[in-house]
Amino acid sequence: MRLHGTQLVNEQGHLEIGGCDTVQLVNEFGTPLYIMDEAHIRGICRQYYSSFVEDMENAEVIYASKAFSTLAMCRIIAEEGLGLDVVSGGELYTALQANFPTARIYFHGNNKSREELAMALNAGVGRIVVDNFHEMSILNEIATDLNQQVDILLRVTPGIEAHTHEYIQTGQIDSKFGFTLPDGTADRALDLALSYSHLVVKGIHAHIGSQIFELDSFRHEVQIMINYLADIHERTGCLLQELNLGGGFGIYYASGDDPAQITDYAKTVQSSLEDACRARKFPRPKVIVEPGRSIVGTAGITLYTVGSIKEIPEVRKYVAVDGGMADNPRPALYQARYEAVLANRANEETVESVSITGKCCESGDMLIWDIDLPKAISGDILAVSCTGAYNYSMSSNYNRLTRPGVVLVKDGHADVIVKRETHSDLLRNDVLPARLKFLQMASR
Ligand code: LLP
Repeated sequence: MRLHGTQLVNEQGHLEIGGCDTVQLVNEFGTPLYIMDEAHIRGICRQYYSSFVEDMENAEVIYASKAFSTLAMCRIIAEEGLGLDVVSGGELYTALQANFPTARIYFHGNNKSREELAMALNAGVGRIVVDNFHEMSILNEIATDLNQQVDILLRVTPGIEAHTHEYIQTGQIDSKFGFTLPDGTADRALDLALSYSHLVVKGIHAHIGSQIFELDSFRHEVQIMINYLADIHERTGCLLQELNLGGGFGIYYASGDDPAQITDYAKTVQSSLEDACRARKFPRPKVIVEPGRSIVGTAGITLYTVGSIKEIPEVRKYVAVDGGMADNPRPALYQARYEAVLANRANEETVESVSITGKCCESGDMLIWDIDLPKAISGDILAVSCTGAYNYSMSSNYNRLTRPGVVLVKDGHADVIVKRETHSDLLRNDVLPARLKFLQMASR
């Protein structure tokens, strides 16, 4: 397993993260457990800040909180000077409860409800990224009622197919998101938005997909979007000066993944902006990027305890852990690959190839196929790396498993930032209707 951030193997042969021995973390907090490496998250935020905000003129970095949203995470992002992308009333509520500066919040989503839009306007979020005609009209209605001018970006679908899993591709024409650019829908959306009394169009947004390695995809996106901004200027006289390129920068999960450096991502954006603007004689707009996965992905690990082990001779050895697709649905959903290590014996030689399965009642509940490990025994601690993004945020209570807690580690301190769920949490919203209040057993 490749080590990330502050991870190291200590003298006892234990995996350590944020100055904390994972074996001790397990003794203290139990398993399964998500661990987030604060110094690593902050380090990546600073790389983004320096390569985009400091080294470029007029740029902003917005953390896509769908990757991992908690009060503590919102605080870290606020402290690091980034903005925040939220996509639901729930993510917005989390940000507001963390006192995140509302002007730095962007509100996304392809089906925002009236209530969510009203909540966003009342809170004074910086930008609403308008996705469709329905939203545009209700947004104008609410803004009119509140007597507010609302700054918006229009989400366009540029028609780019990024090389990534089809479920996380979003820029292609056949997409549920945004106003299609090539067929003229985006033009109609712009004309309509300009005609609305309470909407102020500041710019355009696109997000071409996620876990993208080829920087050329972003170059292509910049070209299309600058061309479009220049077309808008020529056609309507309207000079839009904000260009939000979405997120999507890929990270390392397992061998074979070869992500670019954030600095190279920034240079690609900058040089393609300059080229495209020069070619169209268009003034360079403010540029915004919205990384989610690349800020938190490699900062997280999940700790599990090994339980049952099933060997089918000549076929496969299944090593089962006390979590699975409920805390990490990504392998089942996207065939995502992960690396792992036995955290209590992290420097032992690997001797066998096994497959890591979860405890959910589904054959598809596999975390890792065919991984080399030392001979695992029940009670070992398995650490799966790079689980910081889209694990906790996509976790479920499938099979009525309780969600793991989240511990934030830094300089030897370990703080619970999300408590482990208990069985009684599972029943928090269960209600027995009157006719079922008293258990009446059939006399059959
Ligand atoms: N901006 C917008 C408008 C987005 O839709 C997304 C992700 C992002 C930014 C952040 O993208 P990132 O930098 O994290 O790639 N659940 C999937 C990923 C879905 C991403 C959806 N949108 C997964 O686990 O791989």
